[in-house]
Amino acid sequence: MTCEEVKEILKIRLSKKRYTHSLNVANEAVKLAKAYGGDEDKAYLAGLTHDICKEIPQEEQLMMAKSCGMDFTETESLIPPLYHSAAGAYYLKKVLHIDDTDILAAVRYHTAGRAGMSLLEKIIYIADLISADRTYKDVSRMRKLAYEDLDKAMFEALRFSISDTLNKSSFIPESTWAAYNFFAKMMKG
Ligand SMILES: [Fe+2]
Ligand SMILES: [Fe+2]
Repeated sequence: MTCEEVKEILKIRLSKKRYTHSLNVANEAVKLAKAYGGDEDKAYLAGLTHDICKEIPQEEQLMMAKSCGMDFTETESLIPPLYHSAAGAYYLKKVLHIDDTDILAAVRYHTAGRAGMSLLEKIIYIADLISADRTYKDVSRMRKLAYEDLDKAMFEALRFSISDTLNKSSFIPESTWAAYNFFAKMMKG
């Protein structure tokens, strides 16, 4: 399947706003891949498809997430905004017949992160945070950091995500804690 064909599917499945976000993430992911010597084609495709299941009914997302075969945990099933990442990996594999495990993992973990993330996984996680449509307070600092040190950007992003979740008294996926510890250790090393 070509990227143009994937875009046609995205146009049907996503709102105009999220379609634009997906294009922005794909473009940002290519820039990061160029900066860090990653695979630009995989970065573009993973960026394009990362939110492909974000606008289908939540129950459907949950069913797909549970079937993704990539360690969807009990804790994650308590966090509906995260369902779409595991559901997306399922959709990519079953419907789009994308078998590249790195692309599948990049979509699967773009919300929660995990320890030992590959370059592509980090690229998609960060591209999603700094894409052109993002406007949160520290976005320019994060954009700068992303191109200075991708691991440090991951550590900062996880630190922010976890403290934000704690403030809301919400659940934190096991893989997010593991990712935090993984990058914290790297920062100390
Ligand atoms: Fe997402
Ligand atoms: Fe996104």
